[in-house]
Amino acid sequence: MALIGFMGSGKSSIGRNLARKLNWKFADTDQLVVERTGREISEIFAQEGEAFFREQEQLALHSLLRGSRQIIATGGGIVLLPENLELLHEKSFAVWLTASEEVIYERVSRNDQRPLLRTQNPRETIAALLAERQPLYESAAHFKIDTSAQLHGEIANQIISEARRFFCAKTNV
Ligand code: S3P
Repeated sequence: MALIGFMGSGKSSIGRNLARKLNWKFADTDQLVVERTGREISEIFAQEGEAFFREQEQLALHSLLRGSRQIIATGGGIVLLPENLELLHEKSFAVWLTASEEVIYERVSRNDQRPLLRTQNPRETIAALLAERQPLYESAAHFKIDTSAQLHGEIANQIISEARRFFCAKTNV
């Protein structure tokens, strides 16, 4: 199962919660890129540029999708490469975590680890990126859930029941 969605939509925390409940592994494309390159995301963006990061991110997604019984949290921009949209939709149960712009802004303001938001006006940057990316998340996702107000445990439970429905339907085909 893969979690997609904007920065601050809760992919890592809800992903860990899901992995615990299902007794599955938790994996994260950002984390794998950091491990493989030996550099932090912000260093990669600064030294090599975004295109290099996207290549590394795609490689990470490819290798993680080979595994099973795992929750894969993806970086918010994973949907920018069309091949990734297809991969996520075909090779996983893709869950799109959403949150309102206000909630996202509030969550991402808690740290400064996201190079794309180091702009004059992060709030405007979030609005522009969200507008660009929403249709992309939509096209990759099998299921969408709002994380703005509910508890992580409740969200995880809803995702699990939806995943059960999805996998049962698949095996009946
Ligand atoms: C990015 C999101 C980040 C990370 C990188 C770029 C994006 O991951 O991959 O900073 O383009 O939205 P999170 O969504 O986990 O913050």
